Amino acid sequence: MSAILTEQEIKQLRAETKGTAKKIHFNNAGASMPPDVVVDTVVNYLQEEAVEGGYETESKYKDQLENTYALIAKLINADKGEIAVVENASTAWGLAFNGIDFKEGDEIITSEMEYITNLIGFINVQKTYGVETKVIPNDEQGNFSLSALEAAISPKTKLIAVTHIPSTAGGMIPIVEIGKIARKHHVLYLLDACQSAGQVPIDVQEIGCDMLSVTGRKYLRAPRGTGFLYVRKEVQGKLKLLFMDGFSTPSVSMDGYQVRNDARRFELYEKNRALTLGLGKAVEYALTIGVDRIWQRVQVLANSMRRLLAAIDGVTVHDFGAEQCGIVTYSLRGMESGAVKGKLAEKQINVSVGLAKSTLIYMNKNHLASVVRASVHYYNTEEEIEAMCRELALLLK
Ligand SMILES: Cc1ncc(COP(=O)(O)O)c(C=O)c1O
Repeated sequence: MSAILTEQEIKQLRAETKGTAKKIHFNNAGASMPPDVVVDTVVNYLQEEAVEGGYETESKYKDQLENTYALIAKLINADKGEIAVVENASTAWGLAFNGIDFKEGDEIITSEMEYITNLIGFINVQKTYGVETKVIPNDEQGNFSLSALEAAISPKTKLIAVTHIPSTAGGMIPIVEIGKIARKHHVLYLLDACQSAGQVPIDVQEIGCDMLSVTGRKYLRAPRGTGFLYVRKEVQGKLKLLFMDGFSTPSVSMDGYQVRNDARRFELYEKNRALTLGLGKAVEYALTIGVDRIWQRVQVLANSMRRLLAAIDGVTVHDFGAEQCGIVTYSLRGMESGAVKGKLAEKQINVSVGLAKSTLIYMNKNHLASVVRASVHYYNTEEEIEAMCRELALLLK
């Protein structure tokens, strides 16, 4: 593993991100501050479209636009033919999930950390086809039980669908070990890596997932309205296409059509080219730093934040589990999460509120109606963490 990011590098990375001069931004699990170069890429592209024409600008930037796919593929160790660029993680997940040929009696296995969009998907296939969902509860220590997963698999299991990093908790799911079980039993494996990409190294070969969904605006620091879907080559032809146009079906006659032989079959022709370019730039930025180095720094900062928070009388940190990420969740004695967020915002400190519905099963099980979510990224500093903790201590006086 390469060396941890130095203070000098952090300084430089902060200098390349306007927002860090104005705010203490701990809402990276909502949307992180984009690097200036990402914003400039998008704005300049739009300016060129305005004076040169949309199709003409696309033609000029053809190679760079194509490179976005290669960069994403590099980020997750896939082939660029296995990547579709879409608007967000929910679209990516929905294109994969709803493409599966579910039949009555099929079963889905998930974890208690599953994201709301995905739970809604499970409910829908239950209502439409009679597909049952089995939830593997975390053990007392907050760890996903691999033995319970193994025991839950039956000939009816059509899909294992899990969220690597949940929306409103710091714990993580062991995605590589789950992948080994999925492969052993020849079960489709759909991974929600929405909060993971750009935070944790993701290698789809190592994980062995068939489909993976990601958003751009969170740990990848890409513009809002970007995301991507990975679909393993061998699985692409097995998924139904929910939408098609002349781009997804290059050959059409009145007798039928042929779809593209890559993952772009899941896209449509019209999309935001400026944002696609911005997404590519953000991925390139993360790759240049090194996602393994980002992950080291995020863990150091999150551990430090959890330690300082736990030392404040009146603060409860809710994260548990053996492996924890950059999302730190807590609550303050006698104060609603929304009020904490509001008070911190007055001091230019951004946090968010994690609602029960976002990670419904886990939050209900732990009797949490909401939590304060302070999510760190590599550009945050120890001083910023101390500043937030000082404000919280004042709020509790
Ligand atoms: C774990 C997880 N999955 C999926 C999503 C959905 O992402 P998007 O809003 O880009 O569709 C989120 C968003 O917060 C999330 O936290």
